[in-house]
Amino acid sequence: MDQAKREAPRVRSLGAPSLAAPSLGLTVRPRRNRQSEWARRLVRENTLSTNDLIWPLFVIEGSEARDVKSMPGVQRLPIEGIVTEARRARDLDIPAIALFPYTEPALRDPNGTEAVNADNLVCRTVRAIKAAVPDIGIVTDVALDPYTSHGHDGVMDGDTILNDETVALLVAQALTLAAAGADVIAPSDMMDGRVGAIRTALDEAGYGHVQIMAYAAKYASAFYGPFRDAVGSNATLVGDKRTYQMDPANSDEAIREVALDLEEGADMVMIKPGLPYLDIIYRVKETFGVPTFAYQVSGEYAMIEGAARNGWIDGDKAMVESLVAFKRAGADGILTYFAPRVAAMLKAVK
Ligand code: PBG
Repeated sequence: MDQAKREAPRVRSLGAPSLAAPSLGLTVRPRRNRQSEWARRLVRENTLSTNDLIWPLFVIEGSEARDVKSMPGVQRLPIEGIVTEARRARDLDIPAIALFPYTEPALRDPNGTEAVNADNLVCRTVRAIKAAVPDIGIVTDVALDPYTSHGHDGVMDGDTILNDETVALLVAQALTLAAAGADVIAPSDMMDGRVGAIRTALDEAGYGHVQIMAYAAKYASAFYGPFRDAVGSNATLVGDKRTYQMDPANSDEAIREVALDLEEGADMVMIKPGLPYLDIIYRVKETFGVPTFAYQVSGEYAMIEGAARNGWIDGDKAMVESLVAFKRAGADGILTYFAPRVAAMLKAVK
């Protein structure tokens, strides 16, 4: 082969692009519906509203707010501060808040005894909110992890998280919360059979009106890290939660978990985390057609907010886009730390 032929072919410059290209002759042009704001609004398939929001709040003993370092913009608040935020939530048309306590380390023990103290931090907070802001929904978590010295959601025998023994304690915790005035009991522990046991006990104790929102498909996720900072269980957690929380690789198993919780009497089901599990939300809504919620968890919040505060993404736009994604996947509502911020935006555009 001669030298000339082996040379790489030259790319010939096309010069300035011609704007006189021939029409493609398309009949269907999807861009037509996107050409103006009014048209985009008209064909919009999913809408986020304040009705979709549940605001998770962290409560702490004492009188001072304390930052959660891994969740910029989020603080643990004393009871008074929570009541103020409950009022703000009501004024922003947020239907419900969810409460999570930071328990003083001295009150944590292997069996999470403080969980069934009728005067514990969460119970006092529920009563204070009910007295001041009676018309907001209060969701309370059922799980032992804010109360155990080992940071697990259940009680242990050696390395094993005991199921049925834990469920007995969760039932007592649920009754304690219902007695304090919680509207919704949200078991986040992933023990087998806990929804049925809690439903039966609530009904027998005269709390038939109390709703259950089951953390039905809850995955063993790294995205809970900042939450564990907030409630102080990162410092205490021994090992991981993979013997009770789900394997992120599974999808059919989520359908079985949701089916069980519904059979056991769950009124609403939740998938958690949120954005990395949109496929699960979609499948659950398609399969069961029941009220389905997503939890945009602490790590998801931290990623968006952290990047925004560094100037790497537009925080407001990323927030709204992520929340609309849940609606597109079929979620009826979203637990999100962005709730007050997005609610204020939604109210402003009304
Ligand atoms: C406790 C609980 C967790 C979350 C809600 N309830 C953490 C965990 O299971 O370790 C996570 C919420 C979040 O990350 O925002 N059972």
